[in-house]
Amino acid sequence: MISLHLRHGPHFLLCLPSLLPSLQQPELNTSYSSRRPLLLVSTAVSSLHLAAMATREPAPSSSEHGTPDAAQPRRPRVLLAASGSVAAIKFEVLCHVFAEWADVRAVATASSLHFIDRASLPSGVALYTDDDEWSRWRKVGDEVLHIELRKWADAMVIAPLSANTLAKVAGGLCDNLLTCVVRAWDYSKPVYVAPAMNTFMWNNPFTARHLDVVRELGMSLIPPVTKRLACGDYGNGAMAEPSEMCRIVGLFFGPQHI
Ligand SMILES: Cc1cc2nc3c(=O)[nH]c(=O)nc-3n(C[C@H](O)[C@H](O)[C@H](O)COP(=O)(O)O)c2cc1C
Repeated sequence: MISLHLRHGPHFLLCLPSLLPSLQQPELNTSYSSRRPLLLVSTAVSSLHLAAMATREPAPSSSEHGTPDAAQPRRPRVLLAASGSVAAIKFEVLCHVFAEWADVRAVATASSLHFIDRASLPSGVALYTDDDEWSRWRKVGDEVLHIELRKWADAMVIAPLSANTLAKVAGGLCDNLLTCVVRAWDYSKPVYVAPAMNTFMWNNPFTARHLDVVRELGMSLIPPVTKRLACGDYGNGAMAEPSEMCRIVGLFFGPQHI
């Protein structure tokens, strides 16, 4: 199963993968409940087109980016964020696949840095950490990094999402760069979360409880998969493949990214 976030409002849509190639077909129904909202896929397609058009709008003005030419289409801006799951060893791959069609910036929690080889990230991808948040700020009036990133991004993808960061996001805590971006987020723009944790953690009742909250906030779940985990256990909780996440987020920006 996958989830889609549609451009206008926080929707949580679950589809069978087999339905995805049929996205261009009108009147394809999905099921709906308040926790698992449904949308007609025909609505989804028009929303996706709107989203694709939106990337042709001028970029948000910012002293960091200058004034763009309004006539020039620009690439989608995707903020990739890693938290401290062992699955962060794949963050480098995630950055590479997204960088093929999007402008990418990256955020990493302190724990995730144990798993990320910064030298392997694409050269065009800036990786921001908690240190950057504070080293860039000197005095009142200076830009605040988590606000700048929130303004810059068209979409955010938290992959991997650790149990700890999931709990913090669900509780509204914001004690590092990643959670500050989320706490400041504009939910007219999508946030995708890809949890990754040991099966014992995944099956713990807190996980479902916290995921309910992030769904209600309007985030889209990219569910974990069942396989042999890094610790050697077999079970659910492994992060979805980077290529699959890239495809899912690409759906939001338009068919040319799928
Ligand atoms: C080797 C190792 C692997 C870990 N793997 C995971 C994991 O896959 N998922 C998870 O939720 N936590 C995992 N943890 C625990 C987190 O790193 C820990 O909860 C940390 O506080 C998360 O911080 P963050 O959410 O700020 O990144 C792991 C810890 C260690 C030492």
